[in-house]
Amino acid sequence: MLRTNTCGELNISNCNQNVILSGWVQRSRDLGGMTFIDLRDRYGITQLVFNMETNSELCEKARKLGREYVIQVKGTVAERSNKNLKIPTGEVEIIVNEINILNASKTPPFTIEDNTDGGDELRLKYRYLDLRRNQVKQNMVLRHNLSILIRNYLNDLSFVEIETPYLIKSTPEGARDFVVPSRMNPNEFYALPQSPQTYKQLLMISGFDRYFQIVRCFRDEDLRADRQPEFTQIDCEMSFVEQEDILNLFEGLMTFLFKEAKGVEIKEFPRMTWADAMKYYGSDKPDIRFGMKFVELNDLAQNKGFSVFDDAELVIGICAEGCAQYTRKQIDELVDFVKRPQVGANGLVYIKYNDDGTLKSSVDKFFTPEQLLEIAKKFGAKEGDLMLIMAGKEEKTQNSLGVLRLEMGNRLGLRDSNKYSPLWVVDFPLLEWDEETNRFYAKHHPFTAPKPEDYPKLFTSPKDVRANAYDLVINGVEIGGGSIRIYDKEMQNDMFKVLGISKETVNSQFGYLLNAFEYGAPPHGGIAFGFDRLCSIFGGVESIRDFIAFPKNNNGRDTMSDAPSLIAQDQLDELCLSLIPKQ
Ligand code: AMO
Repeated sequence: MLRTNTCGELNISNCNQNVILSGWVQRSRDLGGMTFIDLRDRYGITQLVFNMETNSELCEKARKLGREYVIQVKGTVAERSNKNLKIPTGEVEIIVNEINILNASKTPPFTIEDNTDGGDELRLKYRYLDLRRNQVKQNMVLRHNLSILIRNYLNDLSFVEIETPYLIKSTPEGARDFVVPSRMNPNEFYALPQSPQTYKQLLMISGFDRYFQIVRCFRDEDLRADRQPEFTQIDCEMSFVEQEDILNLFEGLMTFLFKEAKGVEIKEFPRMTWADAMKYYGSDKPDIRFGMKFVELNDLAQNKGFSVFDDAELVIGICAEGCAQYTRKQIDELVDFVKRPQVGANGLVYIKYNDDGTLKSSVDKFFTPEQLLEIAKKFGAKEGDLMLIMAGKEEKTQNSLGVLRLEMGNRLGLRDSNKYSPLWVVDFPLLEWDEETNRFYAKHHPFTAPKPEDYPKLFTSPKDVRANAYDLVINGVEIGGGSIRIYDKEMQNDMFKVLGISKETVNSQFGYLLNAFEYGAPPHGGIAFGFDRLCSIFGGVESIRDFIAFPKNNNGRDTMSDAPSLIAQDQLDELCLSLIPKQ
């Protein structure tokens, strides 16, 4: 028997028991006559003690153990004189009478401690060691717990988990595909799914009226803290439902998860139209843990001789409570912040509502104190507040101010990671115009149904057509998105037409789906949640990497195994692939 107990379970009630423990040497302390070792396994840490006087040979052996050696010890549980009440095993120690080294270890490249000295890249390269650390380990367990809760919840509601293929047909819509060459079909490629979208719709046609899958998806897109090239969705689809049924059912799932996994009671899931989200927050995923809503100032700010305002499509601002005492340096910092390429604004105008009731702005030359007061009133500002104003093209200005709003939220400590504010964003536009390619793209995906009342506008005023599409946003993170689907071949064809996809392309790319629609497709709709993002919200950490056992770095590389990598010439030959010559 390699162990009788784990390193996390022994306590005062086990005193005098003979036990066998196995684990890793976390740390050893040599205090002359006594040597102490913290032995760690997945479950916790137990202190081992060796006494030079009673067993010098064993004590010498213990002193030679390096960090992360794997050992087995036999001994007796004893009460500690120096108790550590911070850990469950802190009242006891093991008086060891035998050590067996199960495996030696090189000195790890960083300390396996809560506060490690290892940087991000190093920890990714040695991810298996990083996973020994409490925080990362707990993230994996959180992920596991959530997946079990989700499966149980959906199972109780008659959802069936069905696996869909990973080697599928490449489609030109959406993000870039990862492709896989087919050896048996020279010059032909599979794509890895960006999501199981078409398959789950086919399953509805097959009659599985409630499907789900916790499924890996692959997208070759630029990476960020909340984006990985392979990530996991909780993918769901239902038949005979309307938008309201879907929103209600998944509010239930989210409420259940927050209650079970975090002990948090979520009381409401407010809804906001996409148009309002953009108008008041400059984002389709507003963080509504705090207010600071946009105020439109065109009427009060324009025609006062300040060309930046006068020439702008939109003049909008936010009011940062209690920030009037910001110094010149702090304001300059904000101006620099909005001028960064990631935010892309030309500048920022401020109005301070001083504590003595006077107003001071960066545009005093153009505005009288009375006019500034009018503006302050529109903001609902009071003494001590700072108003920050931007002007320019509508969408760009909204986006930039949205980023500044989040930054001010951070600076003012308004984005508390222990607070959870979910929000449904609804009524997304069906289509999105792309200046570069001069055509419309589906904002969600081409299978999303337009709102019935907007369908007649599809060809006359496509940009005004709203979709039966919705996103679940929590604390400003897009956690999930879905829609009611088109289930009528004619409507689907209209959609492809407005997207400018030729009949031939439609037939070759989506023919199988359109054919299926002719065999009794039920009304259906669904949603997919980003499971990694959901975990990161529950874990209170921004980066989803922390919740993925073996994530990629920001260049999409697995630095541990060094993928992607070259393959052998005969492998290339078999796949009929040739390499581009090195530059
Ligand atoms: P969508 O593309 O909105 O919808 O994706 C659903 C959710 O998946 C998460 N997500 C990601 N997470 C990590 N890394 C990524 N690269 C990444 N991309 C997306 C987000 C997002 O909200 N088939 C549709 C769903 C449907 O209509 O039912 C779909 O995939 O949290």
